[in-house]
Amino acid sequence: MESLGVLLLHPFNAYLEQELDRRFRLIRFWDSPPESRDDFLRAHAGAIRAVVGNANYGADAKLIDSLPALEIVASFSVGIDRVDLAKCRERGIRVTNTPDVLTDDVADLAVGLAIAVLRRIPQADRYVRAGLWKAKGDYTLTTRFSGKRVAILGLGRIGLAVAKRAEAFDCPISYHSRSEKPFPNYKFYASVVDLAANCDVLVVACSLNEQTYHIVNREVIDALGPEGVLINIGRGAHVDEPELVSALVEKRLGGAGLDVYEHEPFAPEKLFGLDNVVLVPHVGSDTEETCRAIADLVLGNLEAHALNKPLLTPFSG
Ligand code: DGY
Repeated sequence: MESLGVLLLHPFNAYLEQELDRRFRLIRFWDSPPESRDDFLRAHAGAIRAVVGNANYGADAKLIDSLPALEIVASFSVGIDRVDLAKCRERGIRVTNTPDVLTDDVADLAVGLAIAVLRRIPQADRYVRAGLWKAKGDYTLTTRFSGKRVAILGLGRIGLAVAKRAEAFDCPISYHSRSEKPFPNYKFYASVVDLAANCDVLVVACSLNEQTYHIVNREVIDALGPEGVLINIGRGAHVDEPELVSALVEKRLGGAGLDVYEHEPFAPEKLFGLDNVVLVPHVGSDTEETCRAIADLVLGNLEAHALNKPLLTPFSG
């Protein structure tokens, strides 16, 4: 097993790194003396049989092409839009992701963001810290989350977990999903614009692919309207970001709670001064408990691969 050379291009989880080092032959890009990535990859290409990426650093065609010995890409994420799946298929490279273990945390964050936006929790926190409560009196009135019409874009594992939570807040649920499976308690909309026009809070929870790129466009944002709230815990590229920024600046959209952005690790600076947005840095699955579980799945998949056993969570598309 020691001979499985595993490439990490960026440090992102200390436990994972430590275990990769202990169980395999970990090849860290940042360990080597300053050299270009291309030179580094050329020097280690023969030994690298596995790549571990995450939601932001995957394995694109260029990386895959530079690694002739690559056998498996194990992603520390459920979304694998940063992995060139066509290239992997062509080369017979196995791909694993980490479904299920992060569902609850991401769904918790979606509801947390919706409540934070509507109840203006970050702004209220700043109000207290700035001493304004004492100076100016009670904080402004906010908007209730309970009972709001919640629409979910993508009723997969995470979308369903958001629905379950929102139901506990007496929210009627509607959805748009590619899944044929009917959900009798939730209202299905074939059109995303209609979905947005008939809800108060729209939660983006689908996976990113060619069909869902910029699925939240100007038309959808305008259908959501000045009272509507957009929550994105999917991927930044689900939303036409310049359109979202204009709508928030011009108050054509009521508010947004964003965990993901099109060009991470950057969020659009124009949002920083706005009072109708809550911004967090792609932390949907970032709890101690979940990150440990994700790391164990990545390690388990690599071990299974090295021992020629069935993978624990092969990406199933
Ligand atoms: C993932 O794992 O793909 C998610 O982005 C976590 O938030």
